[in-house]
Amino acid sequence: MSIWTHHGKIERNATLLLVLSLVTVSIGGVVEIAPLFYLQNTIEKVDGMRPYTPLELKGRDIYVREGCYLCHSQMIRPMRDEVERYGHFSLAAESMYDHPFQWGSKRTGPDLARVGGKYSNDWHVQHLIAPRSLVPESIMPNYSFLAETPLDYAQIEGHLRANVAVGVPYTEEMIANAKLDLWSQARPDHDRSDVDALQARYGDKATAQVWDGDPSDITEMDAMVAYLQMLGTLVDFSTYDPMASENLR
Ligand code: HEC
Repeated sequence: MSIWTHHGKIERNATLLLVLSLVTVSIGGVVEIAPLFYLQNTIEKVDGMRPYTPLELKGRDIYVREGCYLCHSQMIRPMRDEVERYGHFSLAAESMYDHPFQWGSKRTGPDLARVGGKYSNDWHVQHLIAPRSLVPESIMPNYSFLAETPLDYAQIEGHLRANVAVGVPYTEEMIANAKLDLWSQARPDHDRSDVDALQARYGDKATAQVWDGDPSDITEMDAMVAYLQMLGTLVDFSTYDPMASENLR
């Protein structure tokens, strides 16, 4: 008599089936959940992560407002096909200043977690204005109005403060200089010392450029392109060691 002859009893007795299912599921649950109680931190220690500059933060805001996340994830999974296509898989640390995070599984378009530096600013501007002019088969909508809409950053200090409330380490100095930093990052023709001050606060990767190709004013396109060009470029992977003891604890 094998074990399978008893299976009929379980299938005919709903209560027994329910109890045994619960037992099985609980074992699976404990195996998944228990290790989390022994982890001190689920965010890796990395070099290079910093809060977004005010201009990038505005770009991120427009990204969320326009629902770009409905077609694009920002989370490269640790599978070979993804790593070969997009680059190093995403680390939790790379999203630690994202409120809300932009992970997801909706990929009508490609993952954007490492799109920074992949194309020129001009490419992004042209692609956002008319995606099909560059990728004929694209189904991405046109966002040409971004280039014509002046960026509204009147509330930027409050925006930084709101991020502080949820744990992003903006300093009082960053908040006090938010408007100036936003301006300097989009107007490289402006005073060089302001750009130096921006980089002293946010690091050398916070460069000042004419993001939308038009230096005369700051548009939503400037903010969007600055944000896209930063994505995935902050963490220094040359110093990231996944086996370092602080990353295994
Ligand atoms: C309806 C779905 C859809 C929406 C909404 C959408 N996209 Fe796309 N996106 C695509 C598709 C499809 C592609 C691939 C074809 C192409 O390059 O146009 C793409 C490509 C891209 C690329 C190039 C990625 C690469 O690695 O080549 C960028 C950058 C991008 N989208 C940014 C955005 C931004 C920013 C927004 C919001 C303002 C947005 N997308 C909204 C569908 C979408």
